[in-house]
Amino acid sequence: MSLTPRPAGGRKAGDVVLIGGGAGFIGSHVIDGLLPGGDYRVRVLDGFVTGLRDNLAYCLDQIDRAEGDLCQLKTVDSAFAESR
Ligand SMILES: NC(=O)c1ccc[n+]([C@@H]2O[C@H](COP(=O)([O-])OP(=O)(O)OC[C@H]3O[C@@H](n4cnc5c(N)ncnc54)[C@H](O)[C@@H]3O)[C@@H](O)[C@H]2O)c1
Repeated sequence: MSLTPRPAGGRKAGDVVLIGGGAGFIGSHVIDGLLPGGDYRVRVLDGFVTGLRDNLAYCLDQIDRAEGDLCQLKTVDSAFAESR
């Protein structure tokens, strides 16, 4: 399976935007920016190494969550696969 991103502007309705480290400081703010709207689903992949579940508590009903290690290709691969 290829992890090649789509070209800029190539997002389609119903796509999932995968945020690695979304429970962290930067990632949770990226989610804040994405949630106001769009024809996409937001998915977080985080191992909760330093990130806080509390950072996602307010939006749990609006996002998909996957827990795992971003350094493991298999984990990232399956998070992408599930998002298709
Ligand atoms: N966590 C907070 O709520 C918070 C609040 C204020 C300031 N800060 C600081 O802001 C700075 C920048 O924040 P940041 O967003 O770069 O760091 P961060 O530690 O907040 O976020 C990194 C995220 O990536 C996740 N992560 C790390 N390694 C991983 C792995 N191998 N697999 C899966 N997930 C993994 C962590 O669990 C975390 O959610 C940091 O120094 C942090 O201390 C953080």
